[in-house]
Amino acid sequence: MTDRYAVIGNPIAHSKSPEIHAAFARATGEDIEYTRLLAPLDGFAATVAAFRAAGGRGLNVTLPFKGEAYRLASAPTDRARTVEAVNTLSFEGTRVLGDTTDGVGLVRDVVVNLGAAIDGRRVLLVGAGGASRSVIPALLDARPAALVVVNRTVERATELERQFGGQVQAAGFATLPRRAFDIVINATSAGHADELPPLERSLFAPGALAYDMTYGKGAAAFLALARDAGAARATDGLGMLVEQAAESFFIWRGVRPDTAPVLAMLRAAA
Ligand code: ATR
Repeated sequence: MTDRYAVIGNPIAHSKSPEIHAAFARATGEDIEYTRLLAPLDGFAATVAAFRAAGGRGLNVTLPFKGEAYRLASAPTDRARTVEAVNTLSFEGTRVLGDTTDGVGLVRDVVVNLGAAIDGRRVLLVGAGGASRSVIPALLDARPAALVVVNRTVERATELERQFGGQVQAAGFATLPRRAFDIVINATSAGHADELPPLERSLFAPGALAYDMTYGKGAAAFLALARDAGAARATDGLGMLVEQAAESFFIWRGVRPDTAPVLAMLRAAA
């Protein structure tokens, strides 16, 4: 019998996850169906319960429900506990397993797909909201020489510094260290409002990689700024999207799909 999965969010019509998981299923021969599930803003738990009651096996969770998904999971992983967010739910008997694959997805895209080492490099993470927090543990696991979190509201960055026991350094845009960064990652939502975080050109080291965790129109302004500032490479988060999906697919099916052809397919369609 075909196992049923979906991505749940609000809005959800734009999600590329069904396309990605359909491609993984074709390539691996896994018999799954994967659809989009729109949950009312005040109806996340009820929508999940109905999907589960109808035999659903797992869900990817996207904005704005990742925190609620964490609270709903009866068995969150350690990494989900650390970031208090879940993007992958698995229904196993009475248990609801919750995991977060965004951080691993980002690091795999940067290190494997883009061939940019994080180990020993200076990394600047721009933004201190949920998107930023969700990738910090995986970035730290990759052993950067420094991980600086800069945020418009400095207190939110300071809170992350406290949570990660000083492995992260907090800064405001006016108080950033003078030394340039090898990797600059935009985890703010500024692009969606046609805004830009105020980043000095000098923050980008020669040869720097600039990475926006979103894709499409929302990433354009930051990537343009980075190129203008001399970043050697500027890339959006489409690869992260495919890699976090692959990690979810692995959690559910125990099979690791090949991501390169799927990313190439999405890039060709963009
Ligand atoms: P998410 O869960 O997607 O991270 P969030 O928690 O609302 O969403 O966080 C959005 C992030 O984008 C925050 O770091 C926010 O900065 P503040 O904490 O100061 O609000 C950042 N952000 C949004 N618009 C911005 C802008 N125009 N310039 C700089 N940072 C911006």
